[in-house]
Amino acid sequence: MPSLKIPKIVTIITAAGFGSRMDETIPKQYLKILDKTLLEHSLAPFLQQDLISEIIIAHSPEDRFIHQLKLPDRIKLVHGGTTRAKSVFNALVNLDEDDYVLVHDSARCCLHQEDLLNLLNLFRAAFNLTDFPKNQTNRWQYSTDFTEKFRQNGVILAEPVVDTIKQTVAKNSQQILTSVDRDLLWKAMTPQFFNVKKLKQGLEFAFKNNLEITDEASALELLGLAPLLLKNKYPNFKITFSSDLKLAQYLLQARIDL
Ligand code: CTP
Ligand code: MG
Repeated sequence: MPSLKIPKIVTIITAAGFGSRMDETIPKQYLKILDKTLLEHSLAPFLQQDLISEIIIAHSPEDRFIHQLKLPDRIKLVHGGTTRAKSVFNALVNLDEDDYVLVHDSARCCLHQEDLLNLLNLFRAAFNLTDFPKNQTNRWQYSTDFTEKFRQNGVILAEPVVDTIKQTVAKNSQQILTSVDRDLLWKAMTPQFFNVKKLKQGLEFAFKNNLEITDEASALELLGLAPLLLKNKYPNFKITFSSDLKLAQYLLQARIDL
């Protein structure tokens, strides 16, 4: 393989939403579990990785909570937009197009360090880096075909669907139309990891054509690209409803106790 220029890795944490599906008076990313906000929990694994050279948080311009947090100096803040995709774009717009970006939701506060490491090790393998963490047994787990596809189209953390999936007769209906074959279905999560230029192009395409997208992989799919799926090992659900908080607290506490 010809020698490759090593791109930098930038992390974007999306934190410009309000959490309207929660029954709360403050944006969900500022709710606390075990004395830390969800945003701080979501950020924590990225702060431990030297391979990540920059961290940007996209927050709402009206946000009075972000300035009350004690965030490390190296974190940059940008104003998010009216949709998640616009928040990501605002954080992306000034980055070097050769670099790679890891986008992560501030509402996914249970991301495990090991799942982040698996993504970073795919990057290491793709760019022939040799600084794999010492205790990592999976340094050679990715084929050259997989690493090449990652370089071209990116990768997202995701989980195969295990439940039987039902399709209803109409939106909001509780009547089953049919069962959907789950063998081809995965749940998309974050982090999602792409070349900056391609993600930018995909988002611009979506904006120009008024297409609503709810993750970054969809933006690349619109360009005809096929990002990869990397299976998460640990729970990484998004806090969406108030009832999700207890489970997240339980998981985070169990990790501290281990
Ligand atoms: N987000 C963002 N900018 C927006 C909307 C959402 O940065 N304009 C962020 C949220 O802060 C969240 C992540 O994207 O961390 C995932 O979105 P979601 O779970 O939908 O959060 P909210 O939009 O805040 O919640 P809801 O849809 O219930 O209002
Ligand atoms: Mg939302």
